[in-house]
Amino acid sequence: MNAMLEVTGLHAFYGESHVLQGIDLAVAGGEALALVGRNGAGKTTTISAIVGFLRPRAGSVRVDGVDLAGAPAHRIARAGVALVPQGRRVFSELSVTENLAIAARPVAGGWDERRVLELFPALARRRGVRGDQLSGGEQQMLAIGRALMRNPTVLLLDEPSEGLAPKLVQDVADALASLRGTGIATLLVEQNLSLATKVASRINVMNKGTIVFSGTAAELAASPDIEARFLGI
Ligand SMILES: Nc1ncnc2c1ncn2[C@@H]1O[C@H](COP(=O)(O)OP(=O)(O)O)[C@@H](O)[C@H]1O
Ligand SMILES: [Mg+2]
Repeated sequence: MNAMLEVTGLHAFYGESHVLQGIDLAVAGGEALALVGRNGAGKTTTISAIVGFLRPRAGSVRVDGVDLAGAPAHRIARAGVALVPQGRRVFSELSVTENLAIAARPVAGGWDERRVLELFPALARRRGVRGDQLSGGEQQMLAIGRALMRNPTVLLLDEPSEGLAPKLVQDVADALASLRGTGIATLLVEQNLSLATKVASRINVMNKGTIVFSGTAAELAASPDIEARFLGI
């Protein structure tokens, strides 16, 4: 596989606490990989170490072949990595249009406001509305749209279904599935296994800072012991 994002041997600490204990994962352009696991498994920490919010102690984070482990977050962002953070964090005082505009990093033929609003028609009707007046589902769509406005090569999403009603989870799943053809490498962190398997072709299960399973959704479904031990199914 020609990986757009390739993480090898990633270790990270919070103080003395050894939270990431050698993470390996790779995502090709146009592919989505899901990272699932219980609360506290280390999923958000993995994302933080990839985007440069947390400096890894060891390991590499290659983006299109270039190792950026330990680089400042702004440099990793400039290399084409965009994050949809846990909890969405849209700008509450800015409208939908303004939230999108400040993220924009235009490229010819790439994502712009028009294309984001085509992906999320529900947002198009709310263009002038402030971030804090949007529903949770609309905020999540805006957070994804904002990341796409950066025209990323690597898209990281941290629990986009958190707190959403089932219908909106389905809308988010459909939108993420439709990104498959665009060449973006997607790393989806989720607790919602059914969303993860709808969007991603491969699933990695994480527990206590390590990857304990890597395979297709079908292979995971055929491993009830893994589901029971690490996902509480
Ligand atoms: N800022 C922090 N400082 C210290 N420990 C943290 C911090 N953030 C998370 N942790 C701990 O690191 C572990 C992994 O957390 P996290 O990556 O947030 O898990 P997940 O996203 O899978 O729920 C947990 O034991 C959590 O308590
Ligand atoms: Mg988390």
